[in-house]
Amino acid sequence: MDKVLSGIRPTGFLHLGNYFGALLNFIKMQEENECYFFIADYHSLTTHPKPADLKTNVKNVLIDYLAAGLDPEKATIYIQSDLPEVCELSLLLSMNVYVGELQRVSSFKEKVRRQPNNVNAGLLTYPILMAADILVHRADKVPVGKDQEQHLEMTRDFAQRFNNLYEVEYFKLPVAYNFGNELIKIPGLDGSTKMSKSDNENSCIYLSDTPEIIRKKVMKAVTDSGPTEPNQPKPQAIENIFNLMKVVSAEETLHFFEEEYNQCRIRYGDMKKQLAADITAYISPIYNRILELRDNDEYLKRVIRQGAEKAHENAAKTLHDVREIIGIKKF
Ligand code: ADP
Ligand code: TRP
Repeated sequence: MDKVLSGIRPTGFLHLGNYFGALLNFIKMQEENECYFFIADYHSLTTHPKPADLKTNVKNVLIDYLAAGLDPEKATIYIQSDLPEVCELSLLLSMNVYVGELQRVSSFKEKVRRQPNNVNAGLLTYPILMAADILVHRADKVPVGKDQEQHLEMTRDFAQRFNNLYEVEYFKLPVAYNFGNELIKIPGLDGSTKMSKSDNENSCIYLSDTPEIIRKKVMKAVTDSGPTEPNQPKPQAIENIFNLMKVVSAEETLHFFEEEYNQCRIRYGDMKKQLAADITAYISPIYNRILELRDNDEYLKRVIRQGAEKAHENAAKTLHDVREIIGIKKF
């Protein structure tokens, strides 16, 4: 059975892109693998969130994950800062990582460009902490998007370097896992090809949006004055509305609007009303569960305590072994 691990920084609510692009796959994977999902709160500190915001964001992400179907009986769900072993492993790995290679990481260079007034050491050592997250469980597969591939390559380098230095075959080399044909990209409501909260908050529909907010957002989605000739290719913004329909609506509904479009009869107002209703219906079980979980701190605490305990078992064993290998010995 493969060990699969993934983490998400708590920076806000989960949107339909996160759900269809990443979360649904994790949810399927928990059935057949030993899965670990964690909330990377240490990693999010590089941008100095306000303490109250950090607390609410961690809670909201946890609620969204659980409401969407992650099952704490099947997967180990925990918060990074509940696993102090990660910090120790990160420190131990750092002794064998070169400052130059960290400075050459694309995500670091991008941050230096974007936030020149806050180039903190946490940004530079980000890939070491991420490697520690992965290696502490000796995970086999890490489902990540393209933007994280370089970090994963570094994790493999650090693991291999440790093995070479101490002449052991201790760390496995984890691979980036993506879902081949199932890889999908959910478009934004703003005409862009990717729904993304970091690019444009207004392009996103969150799992926790009320039906009223969903309706308002969808009605405002970018469209045009409609086709003037039959069977014309669709402009990007229109293609986006159809693609959103593809994931949440019934096939007949999609087919109906395709026909309307091809015959130049399409009324985008009607199509958007239908899309808003279908999104609402699709996410309503998740949304209802979010509302329930918001008032159930006892349950959330239990999930997190149980997750931390399970994660700790692995982590403690790894740190015990690593200390032994390095020569940090008790007298
Ligand atoms: P954002 O772009 O909104 O900041 P993140 O970078 O936090 O999103 O993404 C978290 C996860 O969700 C990643 O695995 C990413 O690949 C996936 N994801 C984000 N947006 C989309 C989208 N529009 N379509 C498919 N997957 C997405
Ligand atoms: N760096 C990841 C991101 O920005 C989050 C993350 C931290 C992560 N540690 C991880 C992802 C370990 C996978 C495995 O999205």
